[in-house]
Amino acid sequence: MGAYEDSYRRSLADPDGFWLEAASAISWTRSPIRGLDDSAAPLYRWFSDGELNTSYNALDRHVESGAGERSALIYDSPVTGTTRTFTYAELRDRVAVFAGALRSVGVGKGDRVIVYMPMIPEAVIAMLACARLGAIHSVVFGGFAPKELAARIDDATPKVIVAASCGIEPTRVVEYKPIVDSALELAGHQPDHTILLQRENAPGKLGERDLDWETLISDARPVDPVPVAATDPLYVLYTSGTTGKPKGVVRDNGGHAVALAWSMRAVYDIGPGDVWWTASDVGWVVGHSYIVYAPLLVGATTVLYEGKPVGTPDAGAFWRVISEHHVKALFTAPTALRAIKKVDPDAAELAKYDLGAFSTLFLAGERLDPETYHWAHDKLGVPVVDHWWQTETGWPIAANPRGLEALPTKPGSATVPLPGWNVQILDADGTVLPAGEEGAIAIKLPLPPGALPTLWGDDARYILSYLSQYDGYYLTGDGGYIDADGYIFVMGRTDDVINVAGHRLSTGSMEAVLAAHPAVAECAVIGVHDALKGQLPRGFVVLKAGVEISSEALQAELVAAVRRDIGPVAAFREVSVVDALPKTRSGKILRKTMRGIADGREVQIPSTIEDPTVLDTLRPILRHED
Ligand code: COA
Ligand code: AMP
Repeated sequence: MGAYEDSYRRSLADPDGFWLEAASAISWTRSPIRGLDDSAAPLYRWFSDGELNTSYNALDRHVESGAGERSALIYDSPVTGTTRTFTYAELRDRVAVFAGALRSVGVGKGDRVIVYMPMIPEAVIAMLACARLGAIHSVVFGGFAPKELAARIDDATPKVIVAASCGIEPTRVVEYKPIVDSALELAGHQPDHTILLQRENAPGKLGERDLDWETLISDARPVDPVPVAATDPLYVLYTSGTTGKPKGVVRDNGGHAVALAWSMRAVYDIGPGDVWWTASDVGWVVGHSYIVYAPLLVGATTVLYEGKPVGTPDAGAFWRVISEHHVKALFTAPTALRAIKKVDPDAAELAKYDLGAFSTLFLAGERLDPETYHWAHDKLGVPVVDHWWQTETGWPIAANPRGLEALPTKPGSATVPLPGWNVQILDADGTVLPAGEEGAIAIKLPLPPGALPTLWGDDARYILSYLSQYDGYYLTGDGGYIDADGYIFVMGRTDDVINVAGHRLSTGSMEAVLAAHPAVAECAVIGVHDALKGQLPRGFVVLKAGVEISSEALQAELVAAVRRDIGPVAAFREVSVVDALPKTRSGKILRKTMRGIADGREVQIPSTIEDPTVLDTLRPILRHED
């Protein structure tokens, strides 16, 4: 039996033994005796008798063990022309002081703090400072509009917001302060303060309740880490569900630290002193887990990159960062490689850089199409590892566990389920399907440490959304199959979640924006295939009878409305005015059928269709043949 199979079997046969052993990689203020706590099943908890501080584990303990002068974080920002390295000692000190600043304005254990910042060191400092105090951070991605930020403020009810005055996109400076102010006008809940980090590209206007980051830290005293229960929340991260209301995924302290530290070694083969780079954003789960927490938990050096794969300044940007900082492994989304490939198909930029230290490319966030896999593999000459996970799971469900055992790769597959994840393919009735048959991907409960224990303040919604479809299973929302060798093929979402440039979005929330327009009687938004971004949203609207508005004017208003209410990240640019939408006899819009036709697939028309002629009329529009 290979090392992978041995670990996998052991993790399912003896989860307590497996994960308590992994827990020894973490420093606890009270070591857990117990692994899984099933007393409130199906709400499972891990290490419920343990106590620790995540910030201590990420920073202090490395300093205490003599690694204080090792690089913890390399900030590389082509958009500002800055590169800065923070040692572990320096980062710990800054985090301790900012934690003191937060405490000085009343933030303590269990309080929520919203962080609305771009990819700058202060975002990492703010997250770790919350962790140090036992406060719960909720980072909101900068590409979201005020209304989305307001929805998160109302759900998380933060004591303070920590924001930067602006983010820098290749084509423009995005002023964050007015976005925060508008969100606060929309929100019912009002935090005590906004702490603003001023950036010179666009300083923000300080209002009555606003505090300046620099002034606040100049008076602050460093604070020590506050021990918390392993089951206390470390953060809440909102993600798109099938409805417009985002889901507040809760992450605990103990299970999270154990699982991430374990994954760094077993999946990514990264340890103390290795330079590791995740090119994502701290606003997404990939950023939380693998820009901030996991690399620091294991004493590695993490690269924080404020730039894009192309245009900052060119398609060689990723290769420059790898070569300049001696990056051992990079983790990004396939869309980033497709962006590079589009501009530099022969990867001519590669010749300018020495990638001697580079050993592995990890990709996730969306399906890795075989063409991109082959391109990356051929050009870079290193293993390219597709792996599959979700905001909810916090770390990969399936991967090629390079640190345990490098398994053969199959293009199109995320390889095998990792220890702790009992993955099954189910049919509509919940019957386990045999190898090769496609169905819903579900995970048998309990989930391993690090996976979400619940949704913020809403156990009922957690159970309803994830655990109620199939008794005893967590529903991933993805469809796919497992082949005869046990390899997982994730084929796409089975719900209304779409993936645009690696960003998870809800078509339901876009439909809500379209439906709110006074001219719109009904609407549908579907995610269609896009060669660069993986998927793009497309809207279809039916006008109310008697409404007089030109298609062009309506289209422009709807595109602007989605940008205003959801944000530029939705990349919503295309909407068609149609006579009718295809429906079943019970009135359900046939979105899946529409998606299939738009993507050029042969689709079977459901026998329950109400009026097939509606689809006939729509077909050329869906296929852009109109
Ligand atoms: N703050 C404010 N606005 C943002 C933003 C942020 N943090 N991130 C993106 N936006 C804006 C962009 O400026 C763009 O606005 P525009 O419509 O005015 O041009 C819009 O949101 C869409 O952005 P994006 O999806 O990033 O598209 P792009 O065309 O600018 O870049 C890629 C395409 C593929 C290069 C880019 O998406 C990328 O690097 N993706 C990497 C994937 C990734 O990080 N995934 C996270 C999970 S692993
Ligand atoms: P997020 O919660 O933003 O990480 O998005 C999770 C979703 O992205 C999953 O449910 C999948 O639909 C998709 N996804 C992530 N990684 C992969 C992958 N390697 N292959 C296929 N789909 C993926």
